[in-house]
Amino acid sequence: MVTCSAPGKVYLFGEHAVVYGENAICCAVDIRTHITVEENDSVLIESPLGTTGIDYSVHPYVSEVLEKVRAMSPFEGIKVHVESDIPIGSGLGSSAAVTVATLKGLDNLLGLDLSLEEIASIGHEIEIQVQGAASPTDTYVCTMGGTVMIPDRKHLDLLDCGVVIGNTNVFSSTKELVSNVSALKDAYPELISPIFSTIGNTAIRGETLLAVKDYKEVGKLMNVNQGLLDSIGVNCPELSSLIYAARNAGAFGAKITGAGGGGCMVAIAPEDKVEDVSQAISEAGGVSLITKFTGQGVRIE
Ligand code: PMV
Repeated sequence: MVTCSAPGKVYLFGEHAVVYGENAICCAVDIRTHITVEENDSVLIESPLGTTGIDYSVHPYVSEVLEKVRAMSPFEGIKVHVESDIPIGSGLGSSAAVTVATLKGLDNLLGLDLSLEEIASIGHEIEIQVQGAASPTDTYVCTMGGTVMIPDRKHLDLLDCGVVIGNTNVFSSTKELVSNVSALKDAYPELISPIFSTIGNTAIRGETLLAVKDYKEVGKLMNVNQGLLDSIGVNCPELSSLIYAARNAGAFGAKITGAGGGGCMVAIAPEDKVEDVSQAISEAGGVSLITKFTGQGVRIE
């Protein structure tokens, strides 16, 4: 029996613009998905979503991992047990975490000897197969952990400050939002392209501020990034109220993380303000999660 876990992730800068080749900074956070794998008579997947065999309607990611691994190394049966602290479908990388953690567990159980790069890359293929399209960012960051500049995959220092996530619990479809942004860019390229390049520049300037741990200024640039995300139509009233609540409670900065239109926001804050920020997010109607940035990617427990 092997137990593995993998972290979720937040975007400090650059979502949406990254689709058009701009820079982005993505950080692993210590909200984790745990999986346990063991040999079994048949294939069994247990999670809060139910207990099934290979079943793409209930467990698409784990089913695809099992099929892919079976093609590499035939097995009779495997039991996969999933427990996750990462809210599903809220932009925190829940699908990447379950995919990568299951891959790592099976790698260990069956002696496949996959490198972390191979796990990240197979994880990305699986996300594409299940979702139709996916950026490699989630699977890479949740495999490797840490703070990563995209697209170069340069590893930056971990942030040494508080981080609070607020979940609106409003459903949003990444595919739909990316497609709306693309339509906006097609209609007004001379307006939207400079917005993308300014978003990319928040990541580039952000990198130099992170290097000197100037989180106050990093927060300011996150707020600039948020205004630009609003301008391309991916904000919503629920996200806005959590973001303003976090800023008013003393966060350095707060913005959408991920596709927007619902899902989650992220705030960075001085350590002594995280409780206030968390409470403000809850009072504004969000589900608040105080977490930590982590250098720990997928790991065997
Ligand atoms: O909501 P998430 O975590 O899937 O993030 C989407 C990030 C986008 O930049 C909007 C899309 C992408 O594939 O990079």
